[in-house]
Amino acid sequence: MEFDPQYLARARHLVVFTGAGVSAESGIPTFRDALSGLWEQFDPAQLATPQAFRADPALVWGWYEGRRLKVLEAQPNPAHLAIAELARRVPRLTLITQNVDDLHERAGSPSVLHLHGSLHTPICFACQRPWRGEPAAPVLAEHGSRLEPPRCSGCNGKIRPGVVWFGEALPPAVLKAAFKAAGDCDLLLSVGTSGLVQPAAQIPQLALQQGARVVHINPQPQECHAPQEYSLTGPAGQLLPQLVQRAFT
Ligand code: OAD
Repeated sequence: MEFDPQYLARARHLVVFTGAGVSAESGIPTFRDALSGLWEQFDPAQLATPQAFRADPALVWGWYEGRRLKVLEAQPNPAHLAIAELARRVPRLTLITQNVDDLHERAGSPSVLHLHGSLHTPICFACQRPWRGEPAAPVLAEHGSRLEPPRCSGCNGKIRPGVVWFGEALPPAVLKAAFKAAGDCDLLLSVGTSGLVQPAAQIPQLALQQGARVVHINPQPQECHAPQEYSLTGPAGQLLPQLVQRAFT
């Protein structure tokens, strides 16, 4: 069934749930896309775990510094901008992202729930204290290069990226707020996510179970199992601005 943009115009509490696909058009590779996915270039189990950091901190820190540099060079795209615009149009919007970049913030979204942490908030691996030191020289942080992590000024522990690694718990307060919003919304836009990683993938399901409409925006058609579930097929940078325009003009 076709999604009527009037549902967006009339939404009281809109949840926007984003994954790597929302940043794809900004030049940030997604995790699982066949040709450009980040997982193509490495085995995630070797880099995105506490065990990997313990075994080879320079490899892991260098790889994440490369990603952070790529994000700093990137710009928000029309999908990020349309989501920021939506926050000004609907009575209430909760933005939940699985992404560790800051492109939603730079597009002007006022508040973002980062389920998987952020590349931009490093912490001490030993004592968890936030790190406020100077970032590494970008030239050293080219994609894939090794880089010794800086040290914590409090305990001299090694600094790690502030992202959630495999085997680690999601930040409990963020997860709680995300589930609460999903259970309370009347419309959820799920943008650019493969929906494969738990517990994040439960968020659209929870919204559906509570009777909200759920719209998937993805170049790959998404299977819809419920009558109030819709799939809009195409890149988010095109579809989201169109949807906002149709709903509000
Ligand atoms: P994935 O890489 O699994 O999925 C990206 C999705 O974006 C795919 O469904 C693509 O079809 C879609 N996509 C690609 N280009 C797009 C575009 N221009 N517009 C809209 N959609 C597009 O990324 P996530 O679902 O975000 O976790 O992955 C979830 C989690 O898996 C990540 O947060 C990460 C990883 O493990 C952690 O780092 C903890």
